[in-house]
Amino acid sequence: MEKIILDCDPGHDDAIALMLAHGNPDIDLLAVTTVAGNQTLEKVTRNALAVARVAGIAGVPFAAGADRPLTRPVEVAPSIHGESGLDGPELPEPSFELDGRHAVQLIIDTVMAHEPGTVTLVPTGALTNIALAVRQEPRLVERVKQVVLMGGGVHVGNWSPVAEFNIVIDPEAADIVFSAGWKVVMCGLDVTHQALATPEVAARIAGIGTAPARFVGELLEFFGRTYADVQGFDSPPVHDPVAVAYVIDPTVVRAVQMPIAIETQGRLTTGMTVADLRSSAPADCPTWAAMELDHTGFWDLVVDALERIGDP
Ligand code: BDR
Ligand code: CA
Repeated sequence: MEKIILDCDPGHDDAIALMLAHGNPDIDLLAVTTVAGNQTLEKVTRNALAVARVAGIAGVPFAAGADRPLTRPVEVAPSIHGESGLDGPELPEPSFELDGRHAVQLIIDTVMAHEPGTVTLVPTGALTNIALAVRQEPRLVERVKQVVLMGGGVHVGNWSPVAEFNIVIDPEAADIVFSAGWKVVMCGLDVTHQALATPEVAARIAGIGTAPARFVGELLEFFGRTYADVQGFDSPPVHDPVAVAYVIDPTVVRAVQMPIAIETQGRLTTGMTVADLRSSAPADCPTWAAMELDHTGFWDLVVDALERIGDP
């Protein structure tokens, strides 16, 4: 079992990442934390609890974290995720209360309570909470197994020509996380733009016939429309579950070791994940970029998780 903490900003693809983490038998979901990003902290936290109810997640602590980036103003993404941050399906009321702790404290407590090298952090939003956690408790660098995140891209941006949303909204936090020295696997746009929810994928999900699968179908319908209108995609790229899939089965996502640094001061390039491809990386290089996805293998994992969740 791979122990993970999912730090997210649901968000259509974050919601699917949460369901994959909950439904997959090889993942032990220790905690879920939220961070401002796709929408305000209040909205994405409400959405996380709604998804928990739909998927029947119980007994896992959920905590709210940073309501803004480290130094920059809040930037949200209603053009992609709608006013609620999770537009499309009807969102049920939460069935449990948040953990009383701040997300940063919950992350620290959870990692420190487990054996060293056993907990993977999976951030699928801005890296604010993770940066604050490692600043508050520097022993996390040694203690965490790896950080497998959705963000960035080697050859592609989406919120600017060269920068991806999760990184560009808080590049100072990303800089802290990428330069901490722990293993970072960046599941960026190079790989997540391969995670397309094609009509065939949508049909497979519809065929499951459960309420959580219908919820995912409605998410994908909305996400597909905004991605078509705003970014010109035929089918929406479902970014965030790719990071969870890498933790479940690294053969589904091929990652390449390469130095990666974050641009925080560019005139045109702020938030760029600058990858050094000039020669092969030194053996002790801690940063990796996911470059290739097994599309069928990836969606098999998502469909399998939804089937296992059933009708809770
Ligand atoms: C990332 O930004 C968010 O809108 C998505 O949830 C994903 O984490 C893609 O750039
Ligand atoms: Ca996200």
